[in-house]
Amino acid sequence: MRALLIGSQGQLGSDLCRVWRGDLIALPHEALDVCDRDQAFAVIARERPELVINTAAYHRVDDCETNGARAFEVNGLGAKNVADAAREAGAAVMWISTDYVFDGEKGSPYVEDDLPRPLSVYGASKVAGEHLVRQCNSNHYIVRSSSLFGVAGASGKGGNFVETMIRKARDGEALRVVDDQVSSPTMTFDLAEKLQELAATGRYGLYHVTNSGQTSWCNFAAKIFDLMGLSPSLTPISSAELAAPARRPACSVMENRALKETGVGPMRPWEEALAAYLGEKGYL
Ligand SMILES: NC(=O)c1ccc[n+]([C@@H]2O[C@H](COP(=O)([O-])OP(=O)(O)OC[C@H]3O[C@@H](n4cnc5c(N)ncnc54)[C@H](OP(=O)(O)O)[C@@H]3O)[C@@H](O)[C@H]2O)c1
Repeated sequence: MRALLIGSQGQLGSDLCRVWRGDLIALPHEALDVCDRDQAFAVIARERPELVINTAAYHRVDDCETNGARAFEVNGLGAKNVADAAREAGAAVMWISTDYVFDGEKGSPYVEDDLPRPLSVYGASKVAGEHLVRQCNSNHYIVRSSSLFGVAGASGKGGNFVETMIRKARDGEALRVVDDQVSSPTMTFDLAEKLQELAATGRYGLYHVTNSGQTSWCNFAAKIFDLMGLSPSLTPISSAELAAPARRPACSVMENRALKETGVGPMRPWEEALAAYLGEKGYL
């Protein structure tokens, strides 16, 4: 399948470049800005892909609270521009959403038809993006994932949680990490492989795609240190103590139900993915 990838130098984008089998036109931010509607139409029409994968996002969750216009420009209208341009070129679109569309109050893993209720501007902008992609291009895959880590690090966030924890531990910093937010950490390499498998099915729709299992940020940090043989001072704290500008869901674990129903194999546990990541980075 001939695919066009937007955001190719990001954490997920760079892993898509590694795993994709078939033609892949990989475009970094400089080559296609999703906020530039004319450019999106011109580039996608010129390249004639069968599928456009849009990984671009403004996802500094706390900054989105004070820069809502930018969040909606990139995550809402940017998603629409690409979905429209893909439709006009006769291509399907794949767009990445987030567990932060949920409020975290359900008490059991979210399934695809649970109603989103975002707590943050970022989450609201991604819900807007979901609606616009769905409305503008009926041949769409909307894929929600969570707590991403990949070898490239998130360019939009200046790294990822794993790297931040390792750096702080090595610097001898005493760590205070939130223990009342639970999600399924997901390795972008594993996600990229599933996106490829999903694209081959032709079964459009909404999917939750995460590594299996669940953990709090504090336990995630503890597992990183355990695997690496590091023993920094690590104190669990509450979200209230951290007092971050954006509210985040308490438990945003998502069941990968639609993925299973489509016949795409399950994702490995997040601990295995973490060990693979640390090995690939040369830490183990
Ligand atoms: N990171 C997470 O924990 C997480 C969790 C759930 C869902 N997601 C979603 O997963 C997707 C991929 O995340 P990621 O971690 O791979 O992020 P990332 O590393 O920041 O990658 C995003 C890429 O998009 C590019 N980009 C940003 N704004 C753009 C624009 N206006 N036009 C075109 N390209 C643009 C960025 O380039 P520059 O850096 O050069 O601007 C970057 O290469 C996003 O949709 C995100 O919302 C992420």
